[in-house]
Amino acid sequence: MSKFYVTTPIYYVNDSPHIGHSYTTIAADTLARHMRSVLGDANVRFLTGTDEHGQKAQAAGQAAQEFVDLVSVKFRNLWKKLGISHDDFIRTSEERHIRTVQRALDIVYKKGDIYKDTYEGWYCTPCETFWLVSQLAEGQLCPDCKRPVEKISETNYFFKLNKYKDWLIDHIKKNPDFIRPQIRRNEVLGFLREELNDLCISRPKERLSWGIPLPFSPDHVTYVWFDALINYISAVGHFDDKGAYISDWWGKDTNVVHLIGKDILRHHAVYWPIMLHSLGIKPPDTICAHGWWMIGADKMSKSRGNVVAPLDMIDKYGLDVYRYFLLREVPFGLDGNFSEEAVIRRLNSDLANDLGNLVYRTLTMIEKYYDGNIPAKELPVASCQLPVNEQEKKIRNKINSLPDEIAAKFTAGSDFNFSAALEEVWKLINLANKYVEETKPWNLSKENKTKELERFILVLVDAIRAAGHALKPFVPGTAGEILRQIGADQIKKGKPLFPRIECS
Ligand code: MSP
Repeated sequence: MSKFYVTTPIYYVNDSPHIGHSYTTIAADTLARHMRSVLGDANVRFLTGTDEHGQKAQAAGQAAQEFVDLVSVKFRNLWKKLGISHDDFIRTSEERHIRTVQRALDIVYKKGDIYKDTYEGWYCTPCETFWLVSQLAEGQLCPDCKRPVEKISETNYFFKLNKYKDWLIDHIKKNPDFIRPQIRRNEVLGFLREELNDLCISRPKERLSWGIPLPFSPDHVTYVWFDALINYISAVGHFDDKGAYISDWWGKDTNVVHLIGKDILRHHAVYWPIMLHSLGIKPPDTICAHGWWMIGADKMSKSRGNVVAPLDMIDKYGLDVYRYFLLREVPFGLDGNFSEEAVIRRLNSDLANDLGNLVYRTLTMIEKYYDGNIPAKELPVASCQLPVNEQEKKIRNKINSLPDEIAAKFTAGSDFNFSAALEEVWKLINLANKYVEETKPWNLSKENKTKELERFILVLVDAIRAAGHALKPFVPGTAGEILRQIGADQIKKGKPLFPRIECS
């Protein structure tokens, strides 16, 4: 496919953004940057945004719009600080979104996929979710946040999820990349083996005035998830007069990828594809659910009161240390434990000792042996005649294979395994460091082995350059700095890229 469209969840504006939110956004940013390098900037679209119609904003009363304006800005500012390269930021309180939600509701209603009924359920206000009695945690508590739920009975509108259940199962089975990783796909198929209830997609306006009115029943507003999921299409297209969805980013030629946390898998892998199917729109190509950042045994979340602010981490360790840590520490689908000790460990070993040291020692040698001039851009003929050196061969092979190895990890089939992609880069860095230690260039210099020394330096320069290019999507600032330092005609090494931090 010639185009690529990647999204993050749109985040609730009740919280200040924490590490968990920044994780999905940094992952999507890394993926978007990589895909831009493959397909060109104009063929990649990266969307994030804020989900603003919740009961929590409603709690702000008359001032709901002012409240969401304020928090939405916090997210935007954070993304700026994190170097996020989104092409668009959608807010569900925007006109373009409201219009699309209302058109979608109208189309699905006229198709006969929405009906009116009286509903009785257990409602969790903080999670904005209805639960069946059988789903409640012990003591009639919400299974997610473990707070008390309320029994609610009201007349509402329902979306015929169950009508499309068999279609969805079939679609999941035929498309192995549709839900990733495999464990999440199995989880959804397991969920679909049980009875699938139709989805309540409205709330009475008297209970929730802050929301998008149903076009066919102004006394109701749209359930926040039905509203929120539509963001993925409202940002990149519109419905024409006949109800056909028109978009440059949702056709056969576009690979549509939603990155989400595993907490919102059911909404994305069950409700969303069925909503799209009812609207006559193809499902996304991939929904990839990552794990949670935990603090000890608990998920990091505002309700558990254990959140860490990304800005504090960036101020303390620097942006690229933070990005690197999140992307490297755990494979994308798995849970990870967040601690500053773990950040410091990665900083000291991978960034300072391995990467920083390789760049620093190489630049030092170029300054010392060649007055800061990289000996030659191409291998001099004389040095080509030297016997093949096994270590050099390994490094050159790794330089050549690295781009494809990384590209292979940036696929749905590999669960967008950023950590494994970084591991490949580090294999090259480690080979190069080992080469320095084993070659002992100071001896080459002492013994006047100029051809050998020159060829040795050129291999290191090529390895650093390859690592610099490979690191661009992950740590764009550092990659740029490496390429600048190694690319300059006259080398003048700056401070080490990553000073070590001693643990107190
Ligand atoms: N508004 C909904 C999403 C609607 S998408 C159509 C929502 N918002 S949220 O603010 O609660 O964000 C949830 C997302 O934040 C998760 O899916 C995940 O991407 C990220 N994370 C929040 N806490 C997290 C962790 N502790 N660890 C990793 N990511 C988590 O749900």
